[in-house]
Amino acid sequence: MANLTVFDHPLIQHKVSILRDVKTSSNQFRTLVEEITMLMSYEALRDLPLEEVEVETPITKTKTNMIAGVKLAIIPILRAGLGMVNGMLTLVPSARVGHIGMYRDEETLIPHPYYCKLPANIEERLSIVVDPMLATGGSAVDAINQLKNQGAKRIKFMCLIAAPEGINKLMEEHPDVDIFCAHVDEKLNEHGYIVPGLGDAGDRIFGTK
Ligand code: PRP
Ligand code: URA
Repeated sequence: MANLTVFDHPLIQHKVSILRDVKTSSNQFRTLVEEITMLMSYEALRDLPLEEVEVETPITKTKTNMIAGVKLAIIPILRAGLGMVNGMLTLVPSARVGHIGMYRDEETLIPHPYYCKLPANIEERLSIVVDPMLATGGSAVDAINQLKNQGAKRIKFMCLIAAPEGINKLMEEHPDVDIFCAHVDEKLNEHGYIVPGLGDAGDRIFGTK
Protein backbone atom coordinates (compact mmCIF):
# COMPACT_ATOMS: atom_id res chain seq x y z
CA MET A 1 0.00 0.00 0.00
CA ALA A 2 1.20 3.51 -0.80
CA ASN A 3 2.64 5.67 1.95
CA LEU A 4 1.17 9.12 2.53
CA THR A 5 3.51 11.73 4.02
CA VAL A 6 1.93 14.98 5.19
CA PHE A 7 4.35 17.66 6.36
CA ASP A 8 3.90 19.22 9.77
CA HIS A 9 7.09 21.30 9.66
CA PRO A 10 6.36 24.88 10.81
CA LEU A 11 8.25 26.41 7.86
CA ILE A 12 6.07 24.50 5.40
CA GLN A 13 2.83 25.30 7.24
CA HIS A 14 3.76 28.98 7.38
CA LYS A 15 4.54 29.18 3.66
CA VAL A 16 1.37 27.25 2.71
CA SER A 17 -0.69 29.77 4.69
CA ILE A 18 0.77 32.65 2.65
CA LEU A 19 0.08 30.71 -0.56
CA ARG A 20 -3.58 30.41 0.34
CA ASP A 21 -4.00 34.16 0.85
CA VAL A 22 -5.88 35.67 -2.08
CA LYS A 23 -3.76 38.83 -1.67
CA THR A 24 -0.48 36.98 -2.38
CA SER A 25 0.93 38.14 -5.74
CA SER A 26 1.94 35.78 -8.56
CA ASN A 27 5.54 36.76 -8.02
CA GLN A 28 5.47 35.79 -4.35
CA PHE A 29 3.32 32.72 -5.09
CA ARG A 30 5.93 31.33 -7.52
CA THR A 31 8.73 31.83 -5.00
CA LEU A 32 6.76 30.12 -2.24
CA VAL A 33 5.86 27.12 -4.43
CA GLU A 34 9.55 26.70 -5.21
CA GLU A 35 10.60 27.02 -1.56
CA ILE A 36 7.97 24.58 -0.26
CA THR A 37 8.91 22.05 -2.95
CA MET A 38 12.54 22.30 -1.93
CA LEU A 39 11.72 21.69 1.73
CA MET A 40 9.48 18.74 0.85
CA SER A 41 12.05 17.25 -1.53
CA TYR A 42 14.52 16.96 1.32
CA GLU A 43 12.21 14.39 2.90
CA ALA A 44 10.87 12.80 -0.30
CA LEU A 45 14.42 11.95 -1.35
CA ARG A 46 15.38 10.52 2.03
CA ASP A 47 15.66 6.97 0.67
CA LEU A 48 18.09 7.75 -2.15
CA PRO A 49 20.71 5.00 -2.13
CA LEU A 50 24.22 5.85 -0.94
CA GLU A 51 27.57 4.39 -1.93
CA GLU A 52 30.84 4.50 -0.08
CA VAL A 53 33.61 6.47 -1.78
CA GLU A 54 37.12 7.41 -0.81
CA VAL A 55 37.91 11.11 -0.38
CA GLU A 56 41.18 12.77 0.50
CA THR A 57 40.67 15.57 3.00
CA PRO A 58 43.51 18.05 3.70
CA ILE A 59 44.32 15.76 6.66
CA THR A 60 43.91 12.18 5.45
CA LYS A 61 42.13 9.73 3.17
CA THR A 62 38.71 8.63 4.40
CA LYS A 63 35.73 6.57 3.36
CA THR A 64 32.51 8.54 3.15
CA ASN A 65 29.05 8.33 1.57
CA MET A 66 27.74 9.90 -1.61
CA ILE A 67 24.48 9.40 -3.49
CA ALA A 68 24.85 6.34 -5.70
CA GLY A 69 24.42 7.20 -9.40
CA VAL A 70 20.64 7.27 -9.06
CA LYS A 71 18.87 8.57 -12.11
CA LEU A 72 16.15 10.95 -11.16
CA ALA A 73 13.35 12.26 -13.37
CA ILE A 74 11.16 15.17 -12.29
CA ILE A 75 7.85 15.05 -14.13
CA PRO A 76 5.69 18.20 -13.79
CA ILE A 77 2.05 17.97 -14.84
CA LEU A 78 1.53 21.10 -16.99
CA ARG A 79 0.91 23.81 -16.34
CA ALA A 80 1.00 24.24 -12.59
CA GLY A 81 3.55 21.47 -11.96
CA LEU A 82 6.15 23.62 -13.71
CA GLY A 83 6.19 25.85 -10.65
CA MET A 84 7.65 23.00 -8.58
CA VAL A 85 10.50 21.97 -10.88
CA ASN A 86 13.16 24.46 -9.82
CA GLY A 87 12.61 23.73 -6.13
CA MET A 88 13.65 20.14 -6.71
CA LEU A 89 16.38 20.94 -9.25
CA THR A 90 18.02 23.15 -6.62
CA LEU A 91 18.65 20.02 -4.55
CA VAL A 92 19.35 17.62 -7.43
CA PRO A 93 20.70 19.71 -10.33
CA SER A 94 21.54 16.63 -12.40
CA ALA A 95 17.93 15.39 -12.52
CA ARG A 96 16.25 15.13 -15.91
CA VAL A 97 12.87 16.78 -16.48
CA GLY A 98 9.95 15.24 -18.40
CA HIS A 99 6.64 16.97 -19.12
CA ILE A 100 3.08 15.67 -19.10
CA GLY A 101 0.52 18.14 -20.43
CA MET A 102 -3.01 17.83 -19.17
CA TYR A 103 -5.98 20.06 -18.42
CA ARG A 104 -9.20 19.35 -16.57
CA ASP A 105 -12.49 19.86 -18.37
CA GLU A 106 -14.26 22.47 -16.23
CA GLU A 107 -17.63 20.72 -16.52
CA THR A 108 -16.81 17.01 -16.35
CA LEU A 109 -13.52 17.40 -14.37
CA ILE A 110 -12.07 14.71 -16.65
CA PRO A 111 -8.38 15.31 -17.50
CA HIS A 112 -7.44 15.76 -21.16
CA PRO A 113 -3.86 14.82 -22.00
CA TYR A 114 -2.21 16.94 -24.71
CA TYR A 115 1.54 16.37 -24.36
CA CYS A 116 4.03 13.82 -23.05
CA LYS A 117 7.80 13.98 -23.39
CA LEU A 118 9.86 11.92 -20.96
CA PRO A 119 13.60 11.54 -20.41
CA ALA A 120 15.31 8.55 -22.07
CA ASN A 121 15.57 5.31 -20.07
CA ILE A 122 12.61 6.23 -17.90
CA GLU A 123 12.44 2.60 -16.75
CA GLU A 124 15.80 3.00 -14.96
CA ARG A 125 14.88 6.22 -13.18
CA LEU A 126 13.12 7.22 -10.02
CA SER A 127 10.31 9.45 -11.33
CA ILE A 128 8.86 12.17 -9.12
CA VAL A 129 5.57 13.49 -10.51
CA VAL A 130 4.90 17.04 -9.28
CA ASP A 131 1.66 19.05 -9.34
CA PRO A 132 0.60 21.56 -6.65
CA MET A 133 -3.00 20.33 -6.53
CA LEU A 134 -4.47 16.83 -6.05
CA ALA A 135 -8.22 17.43 -6.30
CA THR A 136 -10.33 14.58 -7.77
CA GLY A 137 -7.06 12.77 -8.48
CA GLY A 138 -7.94 12.32 -12.17
CA SER A 139 -4.91 14.21 -13.51
CA ALA A 140 -2.40 12.47 -11.22
CA VAL A 141 -3.80 9.00 -11.96
CA ASP A 142 -3.76 9.63 -15.71
CA ALA A 143 -0.22 11.09 -15.66
CA ILE A 144 1.06 8.07 -13.74
CA ASN A 145 -0.74 5.73 -16.17
CA GLN A 146 1.15 7.42 -19.01
CA LEU A 147 4.44 7.12 -17.16
CA LYS A 148 3.88 3.42 -16.43
CA ASN A 149 2.85 2.79 -20.06
CA GLN A 150 6.22 4.19 -21.10
CA GLY A 151 8.02 1.84 -18.72
CA ALA A 152 8.51 3.82 -15.48
CA LYS A 153 8.70 1.49 -12.49
CA ARG A 154 9.59 3.60 -9.47
CA ILE A 155 7.28 6.58 -9.08
CA LYS A 156 6.53 9.09 -6.29
CA PHE A 157 3.92 11.85 -6.36
CA MET A 158 4.41 15.24 -4.71
CA CYS A 159 1.77 17.95 -4.34
CA LEU A 160 1.21 20.96 -2.09
CA ILE A 161 -2.51 20.68 -1.32
CA ALA A 162 -4.53 17.47 -1.51
CA ALA A 163 -8.22 16.71 -1.10
CA PRO A 164 -9.15 13.44 0.64
CA GLU A 165 -10.97 12.38 -2.56
CA GLY A 166 -7.77 12.68 -4.62
CA ILE A 167 -5.63 10.85 -2.09
CA ASN A 168 -8.10 7.95 -1.95
CA LYS A 169 -8.32 7.70 -5.74
CA LEU A 170 -4.54 7.82 -6.23
CA MET A 171 -3.93 5.22 -3.51
CA GLU A 172 -6.57 2.96 -5.01
CA GLU A 173 -5.34 3.20 -8.62
CA HIS A 174 -1.60 3.29 -7.89
CA PRO A 175 -0.94 1.62 -4.54
CA ASP A 176 2.78 1.41 -5.37
CA VAL A 177 3.19 5.21 -5.58
CA ASP A 178 4.17 7.05 -2.39
CA ILE A 179 2.43 10.40 -1.93
CA PHE A 180 3.95 13.52 -0.37
CA CYS A 181 1.79 16.55 0.32
CA ALA A 182 2.20 19.71 2.36
CA HIS A 183 -1.40 19.75 3.58
CA VAL A 184 -4.59 17.68 3.34
CA ASP A 185 -7.60 19.98 3.03
CA GLU A 186 -11.22 19.43 3.93
CA LYS A 187 -13.08 18.58 0.72
CA LEU A 188 -13.89 19.46 -2.89
CA ASN A 189 -16.62 21.95 -3.73
CA GLU A 190 -19.29 21.44 -6.43
CA HIS A 191 -16.87 22.77 -9.09
CA GLY A 192 -14.11 20.33 -8.13
CA TYR A 193 -12.01 22.98 -6.36
CA ILE A 194 -10.25 22.17 -3.12
CA VAL A 195 -11.75 23.80 0.00
CA PRO A 196 -10.23 25.88 1.53
CA GLY A 197 -7.46 25.34 -1.04
CA LEU A 198 -5.70 28.20 -2.78
CA GLY A 199 -7.77 28.60 -5.94
CA ASP A 200 -6.48 27.73 -9.40
CA ALA A 201 -2.78 26.98 -8.97
CA GLY A 202 -1.92 27.46 -12.66
CA ASP A 203 -3.60 30.85 -12.81
CA ARG A 204 -1.93 31.98 -9.60
CA ILE A 205 1.55 30.86 -10.71
CA PHE A 206 1.31 32.35 -14.18
CA GLY A 207 -0.95 35.32 -13.40
CA THR A 208 -3.54 34.29 -15.99
CA LYS A 209 -6.57 35.44 -14.08
C1 PRP B 1 -5.04 21.63 -12.05
C2 PRP B 1 -3.89 21.12 -11.19
C3 PRP B 1 -3.95 19.64 -11.46
C4 PRP B 1 -5.42 19.37 -11.63
C5 PRP B 1 -5.94 18.74 -10.35
O1 PRP B 1 -4.66 21.74 -13.37
O2 PRP B 1 -2.67 21.71 -11.49
O3 PRP B 1 -3.23 19.24 -12.61
O4 PRP B 1 -6.05 20.65 -11.84
O5 PRP B 1 -7.26 18.37 -10.49
P1 PRP B 1 -7.73 16.86 -10.46
O6 PRP B 1 -7.03 16.19 -9.32
O7 PRP B 1 -9.22 16.96 -10.24
O8 PRP B 1 -7.41 16.22 -11.78
P2 PRP B 1 -5.64 22.29 -14.52
O9 PRP B 1 -6.36 21.14 -15.15
O10 PRP B 1 -6.45 23.40 -13.98
O11 PRP B 1 -4.63 22.78 -15.63
P3 PRP B 1 -3.55 23.96 -15.57
O12 PRP B 1 -2.43 23.51 -14.66
O13 PRP B 1 -3.10 24.04 -16.98
O14 PRP B 1 -4.21 25.21 -15.07
N1 URA C 1 -6.96 22.60 -9.61
C1 URA C 1 -6.57 23.74 -9.00
O1 URA C 1 -5.71 24.46 -9.50
N2 URA C 1 -7.15 24.07 -7.83
C2 URA C 1 -8.10 23.29 -7.25
O2 URA C 1 -8.59 23.65 -6.16
C3 URA C 1 -8.48 22.11 -7.91
C4 URA C 1 -7.89 21.79 -9.09
